[in-house]
Amino acid sequence: MTASRDEIEQTVTRLWQKLLGIESIGRDDNFFQLGGDALLATRLLSKLRQLYCHAELSWRDLHEHPTVAGLAQRIEQLYASANKQPYQPVKALFIATPPSERHEFIEKYLKKKIAHALRLDDDSFTGNLTWVNWETITADLIWDFRGDFQLPVYRHEILKRPAIEALAEFITVELEQRYGLRWVQTNSRPNFYNYETSSEPSLEPTKLSLSSRNKPAVFLLSAPRSGSTLLRLMLAGHPALFCPPELSLLEHETMGQWLQKRFLRFPKESGIVYNLLRVMGFTPTQAMIDDPQWQEMPVQEMYRLIQQHAAPRFLVDKTPNYAKSLTTLRRAECWFDQPKYIHLVRHPYAVIESFVRHRFDKFIGPEGVDPYECAEQAWTERNRNILALSQMVSSQRYYRIHYEELVCEPVSVMQGLCEFLKISFEKTMLYPYACGRMIGGPGDPDIFQHDQIDPQLGEIWRDIILPRPLTKETGRVAAQLNYGLPAG
Ligand code: A3P
Repeated sequence: MTASRDEIEQTVTRLWQKLLGIESIGRDDNFFQLGGDALLATRLLSKLRQLYCHAELSWRDLHEHPTVAGLAQRIEQLYASANKQPYQPVKALFIATPPSERHEFIEKYLKKKIAHALRLDDDSFTGNLTWVNWETITADLIWDFRGDFQLPVYRHEILKRPAIEALAEFITVELEQRYGLRWVQTNSRPNFYNYETSSEPSLEPTKLSLSSRNKPAVFLLSAPRSGSTLLRLMLAGHPALFCPPELSLLEHETMGQWLQKRFLRFPKESGIVYNLLRVMGFTPTQAMIDDPQWQEMPVQEMYRLIQQHAAPRFLVDKTPNYAKSLTTLRRAECWFDQPKYIHLVRHPYAVIESFVRHRFDKFIGPEGVDPYECAEQAWTERNRNILALSQMVSSQRYYRIHYEELVCEPVSVMQGLCEFLKISFEKTMLYPYACGRMIGGPGDPDIFQHDQIDPQLGEIWRDIILPRPLTKETGRVAAQLNYGLPAG
């Protein structure tokens, strides 16, 4: 197995994204024109020399090949001439390693990566980590696992194992499972009332509704991994719409709760509300959390401020987590005047496969849950809740989009959606990667693996084979959404 130039290009792109702080980078972009200076170039070369250690890249190489495509080609040439054989990625080396040596392989890999994260020589680093602040190296490790092995690892998983040996053991097992080198038994079936009890509707959805409702807003609802980031970026191309990354506000009644449960736990992912607060003249801090004014400020009021900021554009709030609970969804009805709902649905096979590949169960499921069970539960419960909401509102306020149609026939789907929203159809919506849209923040971490709407992804569910049939309940919800599944 050898690395294709595409693979090297992807690695180079990720490095540039990290060093330059720019998410959208094309293969013909020029490192220096994007703001790469001498310092960044040194860091880039050092990282590339470490990754492709037999391709001795020089300054001259970077100056003569300053684009992603050019640099990747140069690395491939250098590697081939130095080794008389094509470059072998670390992932392929791991797969080729005998089972009894895999743990040692990953230990060595980790030692090298940690030494590099600490800016130490591989040789002078003994592996003694008693003095290391793991918080400082976690981001580098997450990035390396994703780049080298396509393995998404979460921060809490690394912080729980602050020693090379323990981390190596964990990563080895995860990689063996990922590459089919270790048998994983997945017999458990979702019990749809097992752990997501919050989906029970409450008759009193909010104690803290203001006396009047907010102006209409639009909610983009879906199960995770349904293509919601893509649709958000498409909608963001319309001048009449304001489509920030996930707000995660509707789940809370007061800003005190939001600060406590969201901002403190996921500060980086709270970026958009954080930034809006700053634009409005507030700086979220621990002190703010303790301030009674913020403790009790209704989230509905925060929405009102955001809507004022966005006016005259309509706010579109895309947060897949809302559909986890019908109580959360009902808040939209209480807080907004005639809100509209876009229900984005995707074939359960594609959602479940993507959910498991991204290891979302480690993030949203209870500890030790079977990933397939958690993924199926997420698809079925979220879609079931959105369908229940659709029964409570008039048909003029609910619109369903199938992801498969969106990516295959974006023009007609977006025309239909614009009619529903009572706005004109704008061609700019067909170019989700055009500049000027709010990117970053939570959402699909791989959105920039693409640079346009990819119709092929609408078909991938056909080739997915799940380890066991889906349950009858999933089949029932799927049938309501026009997806036929084989009997479970
Ligand atoms: P995968 O990358 O796992 O296939 P969400 O934004 O709701 O989390 O959904 C993520 C999914 O959106 C991705 O899952 C991918 O299938 C799809 N997607 C992302 N970018 C896309 C693009 N440019 N064209 C088509 N589908 C895209």
